[in-house]
Amino acid sequence: MSVWRKKPVEQVLADKKKNKRGLVPTLGVADLTALGVGAVIGTGIFVLTGVAAANYAGPGVVFSFILSGIAATLAAMVYAELGAAIPSAGSAYTFSYVSLGEIIAWLVGWNLILEYLVAAGAVSIGWSSYMGDLLQSVGITLPAAFTSSPFDGGIVNLPAALIVLVITGLIITGTQHSTTANKIIVVAKLAAIALFIALGVQHINPANWRPVLPYGISGVFHGAAIVFFAYIGFDAVATASEEVKNPQRDLPRGIIWTLVISTLLYIVVAGILTGMVKYTNLNTASPVATALLRAGIPWASALVSVGALAGLTSVLLVAMYGQSRIFFAMARDDLLPPIFDWLHPRLRTPVWDSIIIGVLVALIGAFLPIGLVAELANIGTLTAFIAVSTGAIILRRTNPDLRRPFRLPWMPAIPVLTIISAGYLAINLPPLTWVRFIAWVAIGLVVYWLYGYRKSKLARESQEVYASRAMPEPARKPEDGKKV
Ligand code: ALA
Repeated sequence: MSVWRKKPVEQVLADKKKNKRGLVPTLGVADLTALGVGAVIGTGIFVLTGVAAANYAGPGVVFSFILSGIAATLAAMVYAELGAAIPSAGSAYTFSYVSLGEIIAWLVGWNLILEYLVAAGAVSIGWSSYMGDLLQSVGITLPAAFTSSPFDGGIVNLPAALIVLVITGLIITGTQHSTTANKIIVVAKLAAIALFIALGVQHINPANWRPVLPYGISGVFHGAAIVFFAYIGFDAVATASEEVKNPQRDLPRGIIWTLVISTLLYIVVAGILTGMVKYTNLNTASPVATALLRAGIPWASALVSVGALAGLTSVLLVAMYGQSRIFFAMARDDLLPPIFDWLHPRLRTPVWDSIIIGVLVALIGAFLPIGLVAELANIGTLTAFIAVSTGAIILRRTNPDLRRPFRLPWMPAIPVLTIISAGYLAINLPPLTWVRFIAWVAIGLVVYWLYGYRKSKLARESQEVYASRAMPEPARKPEDGKKV
C-alpha cells in the first residue's frame, strides 16, 4: 500500500548534497555539545526534580534519573548511528521515512511536535515560575492572574508567552547568531549548577535521605517516566546535522558528550537536593532555589535562579530551533505545505516556520498547565525512540552497505533494549496522558489523509514514473526515460 512507501536513503543523501534548498553548514563538535547541553538541561532538573521526589520517588528520584538516563543513552547511541549515516534536518522523522515508510514517518514527525513544540511550552512555563521567584526576591510581585494558566486559577501566563516571542526573534535572525547566544547561556547555566553543588553539598543532612524509597520501586519507575523530560532534546543535535561541517565525525561525539555531562549533573543535583530538603517539602516549582533559601543562603538562591532562567532560555531556543528544522524537512518532502520550507533569501532561515512555532508555543505557555504539557512531551519522545530503534534494525537489513561512520556494536541489542526501556517508561505514564496521546495520533492520521497522502513528493514522483511507464512509446518525452 502506498502509505508504506519509503524514501530511498540515496535520495536523502543526494538532497543534502544538492543543497539547493538546504541550510548552510557551520557547526563543529563544541557547537553541537553546547547545542545538546543547551537543549537538555532545563525544566527537568530545575522544576520536575522536586515534583517527582515529592509525589513519586522520594530520595529515590536519584534512581529515577539513572533509569531514564539509561533509556536516553541507549536511544542516543541509536541516534548517533543513524544521524551520522543519514545527516538530515529531519532526525527521527527522516530515519523513519527511509526505514519504516511514509505513514510511520508522518506519525513520528507529528509526535516530534509533542517532543519539541509542546516541550518548549512546558519550559516556558518553568521559565515563568523562576522569573516570578526571582522578581519576588527583589520585592516585585507579579499579579497571579497574569502569571498562571486558567487551569491553575489564573487568566494567562504572560511571562511564558513573552519569553517565547523574544526567542522567536532570536531564531529568525540566524543559526550562527543563535548558537553563539546559546553558548553564553550554557556557560551561565553550568555555572549556576556548579554553585548549587558546591554550596549544597555542605548542607546535606543524611537523615533526609531516609526512607530512600518511600513509594517503593514502582514510585521510582513513575518518577523515571516524569523526569525523563530532563533528557528530551539531545536529539536536537541530530536535527542540526545538515548544518554540521563534519557530521560523520562530530555528530556521534556531540550526542554522547551531551548525555554524559547531563546525566552526571542530574544524579549529583538530585542527590544533593534530596539530602538538603526532606522530599515532602520539595513540591515547589523552583526546588533548587527553594533548597538554597532554606539553607539560609538567599544570595545563592537568587544567583542560581538567574542561571536557571538562562538554562531554561537555552532549552527553549534549541527546542524551537529543532522544531523549525523538522517542519522544514517534512515540507521538503511535501508532507506539509510549502510555507514550511521557505527560506528567507538573505537570512537563509525558515522564517515562517519560526513564526508559526513561536505563536503556537506562546499559546501553550500562556494557557496550559506544566504537568499536562510535560507528560505529553514525554510520551511523544518515547514513541519516537521506539520508531527510530525499529528503523535502525530494519535499515541494517535493507541497506547493509550504507556508509555508517559510527556503527553500533552487538546489533540489534542496543535498539532492542531502547525499545524495551522506552516502552516501559511510557507504560509508567498516567493513563490520562495515554488518552490524550491517542487523540493526538488520531488527529495526525486525519491531517495526513487530508494533505500529506495526496501531496507527498514521493507519491507524485512514483505516479510520474508509473504514468511514464504506462504511456505509449512514441508519446514519451526523452527525459521521462531518464526519470525511470
Ligand atoms: N530536557 C529539557 C528540559 O529539561 C526539555 O527542560
